[in-house]
Amino acid sequence: RPARFTLHPDYTVGDVDPRLFGSFVEHLGRCVYTGIHEPGHPSADEEGLRTDVLALVRELGVTAVRYPGGNFVSGYKWEDSVGPAGERPRRLDLAWRSTESNRFGLSEYIAFLKKIGPQAEPMMAVNLGTRGVAEALELQEYANHPAGTALSDLRAAHGDKDPFGIRLWCLGNEMDGPWQTGHKTAGEYGRLAAETARAMRQLDPSVELVACGSSAQSMDTFAEWEATVLAETYDLVDYISLHAYYEELDGDRDSFLASAVDMESFIENVVATCDHVGARLKSKKKINLSFDEWNVWYLSRAQREAEENPLDWPEAPRLLEDNYSVTDAVVFGSLLIALLRHADRVTVACLAQLVNVIAPILTEPGGPAWRQTTFYPFAQASRHGRGRVLDVRVDAPVHGTRKYGEVPLLHATAVRADDGTVTVFAVNRSQSEPMPLEVALQGTGLTAVVEHSVLADADPEARNTLTDPERVTPHDATGTTLRGGTLSATLEPLSWNVIRLG
Ligand code: AHR
Repeated sequence: RPARFTLHPDYTVGDVDPRLFGSFVEHLGRCVYTGIHEPGHPSADEEGLRTDVLALVRELGVTAVRYPGGNFVSGYKWEDSVGPAGERPRRLDLAWRSTESNRFGLSEYIAFLKKIGPQAEPMMAVNLGTRGVAEALELQEYANHPAGTALSDLRAAHGDKDPFGIRLWCLGNEMDGPWQTGHKTAGEYGRLAAETARAMRQLDPSVELVACGSSAQSMDTFAEWEATVLAETYDLVDYISLHAYYEELDGDRDSFLASAVDMESFIENVVATCDHVGARLKSKKKINLSFDEWNVWYLSRAQREAEENPLDWPEAPRLLEDNYSVTDAVVFGSLLIALLRHADRVTVACLAQLVNVIAPILTEPGGPAWRQTTFYPFAQASRHGRGRVLDVRVDAPVHGTRKYGEVPLLHATAVRADDGTVTVFAVNRSQSEPMPLEVALQGTGLTAVVEHSVLADADPEARNTLTDPERVTPHDATGTTLRGGTLSATLEPLSWNVIRLG
């Protein structure tokens, strides 16, 4: 039987915040060095930024860019990353057992964002691992105060007369994780986050602040962590963070393809926890969700490699350079669908990361930059997923998975743009069966299929590599129709689909 759902413009989830299409640049491996910054590269501009990468970042359509970590931020000394680049200190980065040259720092990050374009917005993290309130305030003054104080004048003396205008700040990173330098209990972190937030708001009440939630739903402290942290910070922060990474384990591809089931339950559980704390505090305020790290990541392989071969403090080593397959891209698309389906509460999300490190863009030092399979779903969702998310209730065949039990084979959402056009995003989770799809369109006035783009391949392991960078690209589907208010399509097995209706 076909999978079905109904769309009506009056039945909506919420507006898509542009920040849903954020990304993440961490000082980790080759994300910064030889990723976005490589003086001497044939495409490098006067600031050493790779213009070939900049062009791809623009095409990808990223908005907020989180920086400088990640685990890196818990040892970050912001003062090391400002001033003349040649005079900056080299430091040990405990998080990734690497040496940080600080050749790329705060000013270069802001310059990078400006070159991406007006849609790019800074999202800066402060170090609450080895540091605290005072250093966060100093960084905020250096970055944002217009002039006439020691640190704002120092910024001007460093060549940045105009303040950076950073509105969105993360209060530390993954402080619930025992691997985090300066790891804390929920109570310890909640107090520190509250005091840092209070002070940062004293300096500028208009800042938007993200408190650290759990680094995975599977953490033993999950939910209790959020409840404790929010009890301390509820009136002082705007967002709580979520992080989630998915990988195929033990050859269990059906569960991997259903990863968004976990992501959606994670979101719903965090919303419930936020609202529980709000109810306890008799607050009218709602805390929104910043899903500021998400992706497919072959984490267990990375952990094994790190244990077997501990790094000896190299500079910009090849780390976490996952090369994504078609299967990975389909799961990735499904994660995007999960975020869109919760756009009413998830109003910031950052794809971790942007270049080379578990990234949609890969580069070779001195060589080319190219798009991974995951590049395409992100670029398409960022381009066509703007507007209002419609409420999609899927009626589809189900199949059993080891991790999540019975799961619908169709995962879908739809976004209505301001001009009334609608884009359906859909994943067929079946590895072997094409899926007939029927969508009843009510009250939309739409009459035509503008495009049905598909990412699928006879080889689900196909990927884009240095020698074959365009092995996988989206193609057009055939036979998709919109007649008498019904959209009919067939979704290829294991596929990501973008169906635009006009
Ligand atoms: O994105 C890679 C790492 O994953 C980040 O540094 C950390 O926050 C998370 O554990």
